[in-house]
Amino acid sequence: MLHKIDWDKAYREERQLPWDTGLVAPELAAYIKEHAAGKSGNDNARIKNALEIGCGSGTNAIWMAQQNIKVLSTDLSPKAIEMAEQKKAQAGIDDERLTFKVADILAQAPADDASQDFVFDRGVFHVLESEGRETFARRAAKALKAGGRWLCIAGSKDEARQNPLAGPPQLSALEIVTAVEPYFEVIKIDRGYFVLPDGEQHLSWICVFAKREI
Ligand SMILES: C[S@@+](CC[C@H](N)C(=O)[O-])C[C@H]1O[C@@H](n2cnc3c(N)ncnc32)[C@H](O)[C@@H]1O
Repeated sequence: MLHKIDWDKAYREERQLPWDTGLVAPELAAYIKEHAAGKSGNDNARIKNALEIGCGSGTNAIWMAQQNIKVLSTDLSPKAIEMAEQKKAQAGIDDERLTFKVADILAQAPADDASQDFVFDRGVFHVLESEGRETFARRAAKALKAGGRWLCIAGSKDEARQNPLAGPPQLSALEIVTAVEPYFEVIKIDRGYFVLPDGEQHLSWICVFAKREI
């Protein structure tokens, strides 16, 4: 079941949004610490450029820029991008390390073809319907260099809920790979949790995909 959300309105209302924790996603921090440091052999050893799709108010983008990664972060919502720009200024980032851009992944390519080492999305791929998920996967793959990877954090259908709308959208592993496999090899689909600002937890998928050489 799809959550119908007016994203820009949600940010303009300036209430606490359940996904906007203000904390760096632990899955992202763990991935970057392992891979950007080149600890894993040929395994995407150095991340110089990253594209984030659906960055919201920019917490994760700013953190990646602080790890000396050149970041392009996009979101559909102009208000989210405005908030992200404010946080960027507060973080004292005023160079080309970090660019925020209003962009709809369903409407346009988010970045130049083959320009990125890494794509990150937390809670964005999972808000789309099946056709949109296919578009997302195709555009993410196009933006990546050969061998580039996508870390995707999505809600999991394995969480039994009385009301599917009470919590993040939920996908099955099959729904994820159906959209992704034409463009990516599946490196990992693991189980994790979204932790909301009030401490509530929801089951998630932590997915790592490698761009397929077609
Ligand atoms: C659940 S929020 C997650 C935001 C952010 N990744 C985070 O973890 O805080 C989903 C985000 O995706 C953005 N979004 C939704 N549809 C989008 C689309 N088609 N293209 C780009 N961004 C989109 C929304 O504006 C929103 O910021």
